Amino acid sequence: MDKLILEGGCPLQGEVTISGSKNAALPILLACMLNSEEVKLQGVPDLLDIQTTVRLLQLLGCQVEQNGSALTIRAEHELHHEAPYDLVRTMRASVLCLGPLLARIGRATVALPGGCAIGSRPVDLHLSALEKMGAAFVIEGGDIKGSCPRLRGAHISFDFPTVGGTENLLMAAVLAEGETILENAAKEPEIQDLANFLNACGARIEGQGTSILRIQGVPGLQACRYTVLPDRIEAGTYLIAAAITNGDLTLRNCPVWAMDAVIYKLREMGVDIAGDAGTDSLTIRPNGEIHGVDISTQPYPGFPTDMQAQFMALMSVAQGSGLITETIFENRFMHAQELMRLGAKIKITGNSALVRGGQNLSGATVMASDLRASASLVLAGLAARGTTTIRRIYHLDRGYEHMETKLSRLGARVWREQE
Ligand code: UD1
Repeated sequence: MDKLILEGGCPLQGEVTISGSKNAALPILLACMLNSEEVKLQGVPDLLDIQTTVRLLQLLGCQVEQNGSALTIRAEHELHHEAPYDLVRTMRASVLCLGPLLARIGRATVALPGGCAIGSRPVDLHLSALEKMGAAFVIEGGDIKGSCPRLRGAHISFDFPTVGGTENLLMAAVLAEGETILENAAKEPEIQDLANFLNACGARIEGQGTSILRIQGVPGLQACRYTVLPDRIEAGTYLIAAAITNGDLTLRNCPVWAMDAVIYKLREMGVDIAGDAGTDSLTIRPNGEIHGVDISTQPYPGFPTDMQAQFMALMSVAQGSGLITETIFENRFMHAQELMRLGAKIKITGNSALVRGGQNLSGATVMASDLRASASLVLAGLAARGTTTIRRIYHLDRGYEHMETKLSRLGARVWREQE
């Protein structure tokens, strides 16, 4: 198992190119199972979760060729219906093969995703919505076993705008008979990207970016080429890396249009960011003092829960206090404990964290508990005096492409060692 070592205190400088979005690429890859013709994808990030998804596609009967960030996927032959537990347990997003498998072959067996570090994360909303389209499910031996004749269009209103649930239903509806309407659908940019990809393959989806999606089922999809959206969470993490080191950094290939809430909060903290929604680059410059703000995580276009941990690291060194409220996931403050080992002052009450800023962080050995928690520890390590060692770094490899290489090029002192 690898660990990451950082020596803090170097301001980041230069340019960084943002990689393709993990959370867009995962459903798009699984959606390729809907298409019996060839799909060529560009901008697929080199991440552990992507490797897991490619493995899953291959086990389900797809042919996948990988050439750097370009992937060619063929799902021309009969697919298998069973996603093995060993893969599913490492990546909850595997549950997104339910929709495509039911739509394409009328059967799907996926291990029920277990508990995870950031909460129980059930899939009840996915299942009840798929049932409305004619699927039937039983839970047997820890597996979700689904079956259906051809799925039929339905009118579905989600109790909560679930990201994965919306994606699963979107994929199921594309080949269903008739019209599906998804109300209170999630509006995340990654869902817009999935819908744009499916439409590029000949699907008929309307309403991208709104809470009502209308899908007219089609009999089949066609060959297509598509470039995955850049990663707004990676981009936001690099913005904070610059802000926390008082650096001077330009982000290229940046989905600025999808980052309003994060840019707004950083500006409110006093961070100097230049660039606007019409462009794909952002520049952040040193701007003296930054101060704490209050943050509440919300579904898009609100402040993303996937940026909460990184803001907690920044607020630990900013002046004054700030209150962070996590409304999407239970138990998503695991990073607070580790940040405190580096000298942060954080008080957790229920789903709120009061961060007392102005702390001089100093290096220590810490443990990564989940993906975004790992990122917050890297950020704190960049700002801390002395050496920070982050263990269980595989979490970071699930979601950040070549992070230590990118950071090193920007002047950070960071390297990987084996435990
Ligand atoms: C996706 C993202 C994740 C992000 C999250 C919220 C991927 C691969 N992951 O996760 O990075 O943090 O959106 O933006 O894209 N819920 C239920 N029942 C369900 C489904 C969800 O109760 O059937 C609850 C979950 O437990 C959670 C909340 O709804 O508390 C949000 O979940 P959801 O929006 O589905 O997020 P994910 O798709 O898991």
